Amino acid sequence: MNLIDQIKALKEEALRLIDKAVDLEKLNSVRVEFLGKKGKLKAILKTLGKLSPEERKQVGQLANTVKEELEERIKQKEEELKKQALAEELKKNKVDITLPHSWIEVGSAHPVISTMFEIVETFVAMGFSVAQGPEVEKEAYNFDMLNIPPDHPARDMQDTFFINKEGYVLRTHTSPVQIRAMLTQKPPISIVAPGRVYRKDADPTHSPMFHQIEGLLVDEGITFRDLKGILKIFLETTFGKDIPIRFRPSYFPFTEPSAEVDIGCTVCKGSGCRVCKDTGWLEILGCGMVDPNVFDAVGIDWERYTGFAFGLGVERIAMLKYQINDIRLLFDNNMKFNHQFKGIR
Ligand code: DAH
Repeated sequence: MNLIDQIKALKEEALRLIDKAVDLEKLNSVRVEFLGKKGKLKAILKTLGKLSPEERKQVGQLANTVKEELEERIKQKEEELKKQALAEELKKNKVDITLPHSWIEVGSAHPVISTMFEIVETFVAMGFSVAQGPEVEKEAYNFDMLNIPPDHPARDMQDTFFINKEGYVLRTHTSPVQIRAMLTQKPPISIVAPGRVYRKDADPTHSPMFHQIEGLLVDEGITFRDLKGILKIFLETTFGKDIPIRFRPSYFPFTEPSAEVDIGCTVCKGSGCRVCKDTGWLEILGCGMVDPNVFDAVGIDWERYTGFAFGLGVERIAMLKYQINDIRLLFDNNMKFNHQFKGIR
């Protein structure tokens, strides 16, 4: 085979191997094999000396174009392989941007707690401050100083959780916080006292532990009108501007006169249903003017000061507001139930 044919054959072989190269490493070994210092093309060119000048020129030119062609092809192939490698790399590390992200569960207040906060906020907006008292309370504050006599049915073992500490009970209402406020502050006094209370009760509408908010306002010249006005604002804020409100005479040992407040039934809107026992009204809280006996017990001059007090059950208000028909749902801590109230506050 003459040199020209050898070079052509070499070119064909090199092109074939370049095409076949599967990676950059293989491609480089093809380059070294054919175009390297000790490569096949150089080996052929070493024999040029034996040729006539005419042939030498011809073969030299051919060798040069073959060299250039091969270099060009190697360059192209190199780019192809690099692209391919990058594509594979991207495929391997592919980030699926359509995948949903992991959720951080955001908690929310329990409906009883959010209802309690809302009510407290309404009174704070009217200038009341927030007071607190202990859940293990002095019997004297829970009963005696609130003018509840020793033989009153509320003091019965049936209703009250007595504890093994003489003179203390689990408070049965938040009213003792009134006593604490009046013992430690001078009028004018205006407080709301939210908190847990305990009674031996358990049925669809009663729980042995529940929440109340007590309110107390004492100053010179406070009348029943002030009580009505404040409670009207509270009830309209909680149940809406058009809520019907009714004051009904009642009795509580610590207030005189006393009243119970009803709102128009939130379920049937007054036409009569199971929830309002066909009356169209729902009892919502107890209230009245502070009894002079209570003022005496805490040493406030009832000739100079008057005041009103009220107490309400938070669970009952939450149940009416969100149409919950069994109080036990509020204490089961079933997350499916609780999550319905997400975002309410
Ligand atoms: N303490 C009462 C109860 O638990 C509620 C109550 C009624 C509180 C009338 C008051 C009030 O301050 O004036 O049923």
